[in-house]
Amino acid sequence: MRKLLPLLNSHPGGRSAMTCRFRCGDACFHETPNTSDNEYVGDVIATALSRRSIMRGAAVVTVAAAAGTAFVAGSGNTPASATPLVGGDKGHGKGGKKPDGARGLRFAPVAPNTADKVTVPDGYTQNIVVRWGDPILRGAPEFNPNKQTAKAQAGQFGYNNDFLSLLPLKSERGKQLLVANHEYTDEILMFKDYDADNPTREQVEIAWAAHGLSVVVVDEQPRSGKLTIVPRHELNRRITVKTEFRLTGPAAGSELLRTSVDRSGKKVYGTLNNCAGGTTPWGTILSGEENFNQYFANGSSDTDKRYGIGTAATERKWEQFDKRFDLKQEPNEAHRFGWVVELDPYDPDFTPRKRTALGRFKHEAAQPRLTSDGRAVVYMGDDEKFDYFYKFVSSKSMKKGNSRADRDHNLTLLDEGTLYVAKLTGDSPQDVDGTGKLPKDGEFDGSGVWIPLATGDVSHVPGMTADEVYVFTRLAGDKVGATKMDRPEDVEPSPRTGRVYVALTNNTDRGAAGKAAADEANPRNANKHGHILELAENWDDPAGDGFAWRLFLVAGDPKDPATYFAGYPKEKVSQISCPDNVAFDPHGNLWISTDGAQLGSHDGLFGVATQGERRGELKQFLTVPNGAETCGPIIQDRRVLVAVQHPGELDGATVDNPLSAWPDGRGKMVRPAVVAVWRKDGDDIGV
Ligand code: FEO
Ligand code: CA
Ligand code: CA
Ligand code: CA
Repeated sequence: MRKLLPLLNSHPGGRSAMTCRFRCGDACFHETPNTSDNEYVGDVIATALSRRSIMRGAAVVTVAAAAGTAFVAGSGNTPASATPLVGGDKGHGKGGKKPDGARGLRFAPVAPNTADKVTVPDGYTQNIVVRWGDPILRGAPEFNPNKQTAKAQAGQFGYNNDFLSLLPLKSERGKQLLVANHEYTDEILMFKDYDADNPTREQVEIAWAAHGLSVVVVDEQPRSGKLTIVPRHELNRRITVKTEFRLTGPAAGSELLRTSVDRSGKKVYGTLNNCAGGTTPWGTILSGEENFNQYFANGSSDTDKRYGIGTAATERKWEQFDKRFDLKQEPNEAHRFGWVVELDPYDPDFTPRKRTALGRFKHEAAQPRLTSDGRAVVYMGDDEKFDYFYKFVSSKSMKKGNSRADRDHNLTLLDEGTLYVAKLTGDSPQDVDGTGKLPKDGEFDGSGVWIPLATGDVSHVPGMTADEVYVFTRLAGDKVGATKMDRPEDVEPSPRTGRVYVALTNNTDRGAAGKAAADEANPRNANKHGHILELAENWDDPAGDGFAWRLFLVAGDPKDPATYFAGYPKEKVSQISCPDNVAFDPHGNLWISTDGAQLGSHDGLFGVATQGERRGELKQFLTVPNGAETCGPIIQDRRVLVAVQHPGELDGATVDNPLSAWPDGRGKMVRPAVVAVWRKDGDDIGV
């Protein structure tokens, strides 16, 4: 008898049962981990903390807007205009319509579809850059699914590519450094005749080697966006479940992080469920450990429960092969996952770090920017229904040089600072009825406050030590009354305006019995399609404790009155559902990839203008094959890069009964892969 949870077609949220099972350990079948009733405590603390802060936040935004110019991370310190958050930039009136879209978005939108391929706009073409199993390290064999070994996999590109980063390689003309996350494994699609009750040690160790990250040098083809990998390059690297990591920052060495194998509480093997991430202005990458809970068996504590760790055996049964995955034997091991990882991809010998100062939760991503005096501000979402949105502000400033001493200094930035959680307050509470109907003031908007949780070794949360705040950050958020959000995922500050965009994927439990009801920041009950929040902080000093916010998009079928596209005429936009990853193009447009789209089309990638008369004009750029999610978008002048994650992950699919033929056609293994898209005429994307 297979003791699997039923593979139903009608999963809550509508995605495939296989996705639920392998991606997040069937989270939807379990009680939502945030059962806290944090409203009362929150009101008390937030009121005490923040009446002044909210006022100050609002004032600060206005001042920043009035100031007009500022410097911002990652933009080469280019002065940019700050646009006021309220009013003044929604001129979608008559006469301003150009026939061909905002600069960077001038392409014919791809129609919603269910084609088993990557569909791109007319005039564009694509190539597969790298796929699961392609050898990248010296000595790694060609992919052979019938003879796969853990050793081979450890030298090959991993499974289920998610976050992507492309970093410059100035010393090597025409080359860039590609970093990819490998979020999780789909054993049923990886191994012929996979027996979930009795996985073999080799299969388990292949899965360990298929998780983690890849670093691989890529070669640009002149006058096109085509990329190909450079196997065996000295910078190529695989990070797996066996790679040594160092825990750093204020909670490193805490008793909560010590195990029988690591009595220092500072050394841990591996990283798990690396979803999205970010690229730092100092040339490293950040990677979020997301649904780490599903890999640990026999959780028993209240804190395990708050993180969704189950009380029984796990789906993959790793606990039978390494006792650290059995919390009955090693209760602190799960505390060593759920962090933001930092990797220096330019140093193949670098020991990657887990940054405890950034808190422990289901980290979707971590996107840094800089204050005008060079401190790092990192935005982070905790991707779970009713969980929270965070930021970290470093106490030290980045050094701009590239000497070893400068790089070493910058690698300490994320170890010292203050961790905050967001509380959002709407300005039209009386008008929010859960249907998505716009309030009378015309917007879902309001003010917010960053509630400090801990600074270095000092806790700001009554009843919790600093170590507890870092290791059990969700509980700290509960205590201070953070706002329960609809699955905060990827975050991206605009390099043009400094405004921060947060993807909230969906929350079908919003407004359900016993759950938090709609509020102005999460305005739809049973929210199937998600929304995107736009947040404005002080342009020069986003380290402040107040902000203004409004919803930029409320996703869905534009014909649905409960959708909103920044006020842009809805008959002129593409449909969109379940925004997940976000990125900016060189023109200041926001690009959004989706995960679990609910409108009868495959997932896709969209671009939308955030400024000017076309603000809110959303256009679909591509769609992905059967069962896949679109991840990791990067938009450079001449190319768009996406990670096609879990193609063919549909109910009933197996190696012998594939439900996708992507990327290599019928009779070939279905393989997650990275795709580059460019214009056939070699010109820039969307101009
Ligand atoms: Fe791994 Fe929240 O997506
Ligand atoms: Ca309002
Ligand atoms: Ca994601
Ligand atoms: Ca997602």
